[in-house]
Amino acid sequence: MTTRFSKDFLWGGATAANQLEGAYDRDGKGLSVADAMPGGKQRFDIIGSEEFDWTIDEEHYIYPNHRGIEHYDRFKEDIALFAEMGFKCYRFSIAWTRIFPKGDEQTPNEAGLAFYEELIDTCLQHEIEPVITISHYEMPLHLAKEYGGWKNRQLIDFYERFARTVLERYNQKVKYWMTFNEINSAFHFPALSQGLVKSNGASDYQNIFQAWHNQFVASSKAVKIAHELRSDIQVGCMIIYATTYSIDANPVNQVATLIQNQEFNFFCTDVQVRGEYPAYTARTYKKYGVSVEELEQTEEDIQLLKEYPVDYIGFSYYMSSAVNETDSEVATSAGNLLGGVKNPFLEASEWGWQIDPQGLRIALNELYNRYEKPLFIVENGLGAIDEVENDGSINDDYRIDYLRSHIEAMGEAVEDGVDLLGYTPWGCIDLVSASTGEMSKRYGFIYVDLDDEGHGTLNRSKKKSFDWYKEVIATNGEKL
Ligand code: BG6
Repeated sequence: MTTRFSKDFLWGGATAANQLEGAYDRDGKGLSVADAMPGGKQRFDIIGSEEFDWTIDEEHYIYPNHRGIEHYDRFKEDIALFAEMGFKCYRFSIAWTRIFPKGDEQTPNEAGLAFYEELIDTCLQHEIEPVITISHYEMPLHLAKEYGGWKNRQLIDFYERFARTVLERYNQKVKYWMTFNEINSAFHFPALSQGLVKSNGASDYQNIFQAWHNQFVASSKAVKIAHELRSDIQVGCMIIYATTYSIDANPVNQVATLIQNQEFNFFCTDVQVRGEYPAYTARTYKKYGVSVEELEQTEEDIQLLKEYPVDYIGFSYYMSSAVNETDSEVATSAGNLLGGVKNPFLEASEWGWQIDPQGLRIALNELYNRYEKPLFIVENGLGAIDEVENDGSINDDYRIDYLRSHIEAMGEAVEDGVDLLGYTPWGCIDLVSASTGEMSKRYGFIYVDLDDEGHGTLNRSKKKSFDWYKEVIATNGEKL
């Protein structure tokens, strides 16, 4: 069969340890920043408040990540279901705190390493290629509280030790890696990826840009280690990409769009892919009050970034964003860590994220034309409330429509000439939402019987989209 997608196209699904594993304190695991994030729609307001200092307060809040969907105990059953759908790959992350519970230890926790070994082996038994995110929104809590998060340069060494440990252990079994999930998310909300909240410096862009620099260096170190271990290994960066439109043809809005693209969509990839800070850096620093003199950056850092750029670009795409600089009265829109204004041409999800499949074709072209490196869509999907019918079926046609239109757009981009490695829709099995800690914001092909308060059997069942996606994979994306 000839299809638009390459014969070894990596169809699969994506998850993150802190959002599904549970077992947050078992077998030597330490606490992560994710373990300190309360569940509920107010999650980001609480974490973003002046008072928030990473204290776990079980008297007032619930912490759904602690239990997740108990994937830690049920991963074999879950991976068997992925295999039944025909997954070619599975993107998951390694909980840093299972390997280094506090983050600053010298020796790793063998129980954690053994867990991921078994998970990887289970994937391989099903001929599923593991795709690993080394750090996905779950740095050790100790590093956030005692070291002040990623603005502290010591974190480079801690991360290097962590990355070296997992790369040395699994490199012969795992070819595809990513260093940091959605590294650019820090621009709007640095708590998740940098461990920065207001009480330890999140309001000061000096800290955010310092933290980024430290992460860029750490990422290059991981690339170096990986390449020394295995010549064909592929290490990617990972960003949120939100295709950004000017609301109209007014040049003022066009310029604002250009700037938003530079600051949010491209800054991190410009460094991580091209290996050097982009030309607009000085102006961006100035705008955000970042003093170059006070930034800790060495000659060796700059050399390392140059020598060890990433091999491919992983990105999440859920929605697009629109910019309106000229009308302050205009309605705003919710979004994946960034807002923007309402685009009159688009519908939004129940959580207000604007659905835009054509924006994915644009994203793929913008990224590919800028860098000419392989791309990997490692997250995409629709967070929605699912209803279980009396007969147990879940007819998630809205999800199928969303995914179908995005895969169509992906096919168009491939025809445009984009080199696309694969597609792993987010939350292939229902899991805890990152932005709200809710279970009811579901993305999966597989339903998990668990509600926002933690009630339910945790039984897994197939949604209508399960069989649909199975056929998509079986026909290599031709039957949508
Ligand atoms: C991405 C994150 O931003 O979006 C995931 O990498 C997250 O961790 C996903 O779960 C969907 O966002 P949410 O807030 O709906 O879970």
